[in-house]
Amino acid sequence: MQSTGNKRSSCPSFRLREVASMYFTMIMVFLVILVVALQGTAPRENYFPYKVPLDPQSFLELSWNVSYPEQVVHFQLLVKEPKFGLLFGMSDRGEFENADLAVLWSDGHSSYFGDAWSDEKGQLHMDSQQNYQLLKAHRTPEGLYLVFKRAFSTCDPKDYLIEDGTVHLIYGILEKPVRSLQAINISAIHRGVQRVQLLKPNISAPELPRDMKTMEVRAPDVVIPSQETTYWCYMVELPDSFPRHHIVMYEPVITAGNEAIVHHMEVFQCAAEFDSFPHYNGPCDSKMKPDRLNYCRHVLAAWAMGAQAFYYPEEAGLAFGGPGSSKYLRLEIHYHNPLVFKGRHDSSGIRLYYTATLRRYDAGIMELGLVYTPVMAIPPGEAGFLLKGYCTDKCTQVALPPAGIHIFASQLHTHLTGRKVATILSREGREREVVNADNHYSPHFQEIRMLKKVVSVFPST
Ligand SMILES: *[C@@H]1O[C@H](CO)[C@@H](O)[C@H](O)[C@H]1NC(C)=O
Ligand SMILES: *[C@@H]1O[C@H](CO)[C@@H](O)[C@H](O)[C@H]1NC(C)=O
Ligand SMILES: *[C@@H]1O[C@H](CO)[C@@H](O)[C@H](O)[C@H]1NC(C)=O
Repeated sequence: MQSTGNKRSSCPSFRLREVASMYFTMIMVFLVILVVALQGTAPRENYFPYKVPLDPQSFLELSWNVSYPEQVVHFQLLVKEPKFGLLFGMSDRGEFENADLAVLWSDGHSSYFGDAWSDEKGQLHMDSQQNYQLLKAHRTPEGLYLVFKRAFSTCDPKDYLIEDGTVHLIYGILEKPVRSLQAINISAIHRGVQRVQLLKPNISAPELPRDMKTMEVRAPDVVIPSQETTYWCYMVELPDSFPRHHIVMYEPVITAGNEAIVHHMEVFQCAAEFDSFPHYNGPCDSKMKPDRLNYCRHVLAAWAMGAQAFYYPEEAGLAFGGPGSSKYLRLEIHYHNPLVFKGRHDSSGIRLYYTATLRRYDAGIMELGLVYTPVMAIPPGEAGFLLKGYCTDKCTQVALPPAGIHIFASQLHTHLTGRKVATILSREGREREVVNADNHYSPHFQEIRMLKKVVSVFPST
């Protein structure tokens, strides 16, 4: 929808910069850093709180940290089986054309590292401004570690602007030596895309209650279907007369070896209006799936690859159990299996941490947006199409308590055609605050994200 302010506004004017860069281009090309440090110990892991496998086999593992004061992301890439180099970068929606890339390549004798970009045909070019800065290269028994950093915004029009929300990371592996950067044929290499939220908010975890208990909602020994995409559904029943509790935290439990396949997971609570739900265990889109499972849609927990444990604020918890709440839960797991592994077993799920000592406030989930009707259909041939849903003054009067609500987290949601989403708070006819926005949204990457700043919303008076 709307871009969230122009972060490039502090950049020098385009023309001036081009003049300067033409002057430096020649020098820069020869200044690409030689990777020679092949000795060393593994860097201390705890500098990098976030980690994802980039490829389905986990040959490339990315860790990173974010510094808001410096507006910089530090990346650590572990290449478990280094060959003749690799490409790592970012692009609007994960394409290899018009991408911003850090490239490590070897001609068989020496290795080089450089900041590059690809044009609309996918041809690579050395960037006139070297914004991926290589800090370290270590060879260890686990593989080659590369540490480099990148500013969120670089003022280079060829560079990707790192924003809040989803970032499509792209990678490629060079299996043969290459003469030069320009000689890399980007269509002929082993490559892929991984989506992450790079700019994680800097929020420290609140203290947890001492009487906390845990419950694992896990699919029991599922054989992951040998197809690219599977949504697996598994029903769980809470114990009889399970009293009201507050969920205060949850985290993923991923079966070892499946870290690159378990793409996202959600736990839903079923509607209290039905006394029972069938114990289904199978693909969510199967004809065998009982229709009643469609009434299990109240989100209790949602996790996506790259996300860490989710903590509720100290003063609030998400209620479950007790009268008026269904004892049936539905676990949904998205398996992303592009290499079509066969016979892989999985028992992943989500571990809920909950307490009987109810916190002062109930956390709740408010769903905003549009209802699905043919009126919302996108006409054919549109390059872009904006849909808006409103919770108007009448809606806030009904939906919100008199003291208002405090939004601390948000999950954006669309079906397959969604590309950008934003939730905006308006008051008196003017847009006041962006609650959550994603300019590179993908329906394949839906997670609950903590907001950097709590947004308060009050019922209309
Ligand atoms: C996170 O915030 C704390 C203060 O709340 C600050 O001291 C720290 O430097 C921040 N860390 C990062 C990585 O920005
Ligand atoms: C990020 O990692 C780099 C490299 O290890 C380290 O120098 C830096 O202090 C870390 N920054 C934060 C905010 O953790
Ligand atoms: C690059 O690789 C693709 C796919 O293998 C091939 O079709 C194309 O001709 C190659 N381009 C060049 C310039 O070699």
